[in-house]
Amino acid sequence: MAFYTLGIETSCDETSVAVLRDEREMLSNIVYSQAHLHEKYGGVVPEVASRNHIKKLPFVVKEALDQAGISFSDISLVGATYGPGLVGPLLVGLSYAKAVAYALKKPFVGVNHLEGHIFAHYLENPNAPPPFLALVVSGGHTLLVEVRAYGQYEVLGETRDDAAGEAFDKVGKLLGLGYPAGAALDRLARQGNPQAIAFPRPMLDSDSWEFSFAGLKTAIVYYLRDHPEANRADLAASFQEAVVDVLVEKTLRAARQLHIKRIVVVGGVAANSRLRERLLAQKNFEVFFPKMELCTDNAAMIAACAAFRHRVLGQSNALDLAPHPNLALTP
Ligand code: KG4
Ligand code: ZN
Repeated sequence: MAFYTLGIETSCDETSVAVLRDEREMLSNIVYSQAHLHEKYGGVVPEVASRNHIKKLPFVVKEALDQAGISFSDISLVGATYGPGLVGPLLVGLSYAKAVAYALKKPFVGVNHLEGHIFAHYLENPNAPPPFLALVVSGGHTLLVEVRAYGQYEVLGETRDDAAGEAFDKVGKLLGLGYPAGAALDRLARQGNPQAIAFPRPMLDSDSWEFSFAGLKTAIVYYLRDHPEANRADLAASFQEAVVDVLVEKTLRAARQLHIKRIVVVGGVAANSRLRERLLAQKNFEVFFPKMELCTDNAAMIAACAAFRHRVLGQSNALDLAPHPNLALTP
């Protein structure tokens, strides 16, 4: 008999619900983005996000079930993100998921959003299992992780300040690209010269596997102040090149030192065309990027992680599991 996992993701401003059959068959993956509601504020307003998750979630669940061709009574397992993320938004998806599990008397698994991103790769590439090195780059996080097996992680380095996606969003805002600005900045950068302006490559020469992007953003603030007429496409391309240089160099250095041949890049910034181009050009490593819709926040990756944790590791969570806004990948 088929095993159906209902996955729910509401850690930030995407209301997303997916249905997964067995391990990897994605029957639906509905993503309702609230970005348009937050754009005028230049970032996610937590209270606005929570209220809209409450409003939209039941409809998104219905759409995901309809598209999968199943009903509530077919669900075998419920999984939802319980952190890291914004506490209000997390609470909405988590409470909904727990209520469904309780009503159906089915098991429930709370999913770590960062581990969820790694499961975007699990969904798509069954033939490229761990061990691998994962670069998790999103709006909230930048992590270099040694994945020894699914469920077994060693965090090698994180960002000391801003995440890579956050840097894209902040610089994009300075360039008037709206919110979130990553994809728009990526498009603008294609018309510019990446060598036009030599921005700093933070922490590139350091031996540590940590990242730092706040200084780069400040460099751009000063550059714009001193060169108000600067070509915006050149500026976008030069900024992007600085971020990509650091991400690529550090990842390759870690892979070489640890003798890991397989590299997996996940999270919203994995959608970046220059990062993809640079890493996929590497001949000495096997590099994987999930398809675009699995890079940015989605519930399919959450469902896949929940199904794995339950069916392979035998886990489930009690229904008093609380949201953990600052949850780390490893305890
Ligand atoms: O993983 P995600 O959807 O949400 C978080 O968990 O944070 O990542 C969203 C981030 C945003 O900062 C967005 O600007 C960035 O991913 N992003 C991009 C691109 N597409 C999305 N950054 C650079 N280039 C892109 N093409
Ligand atoms: Zn994310």
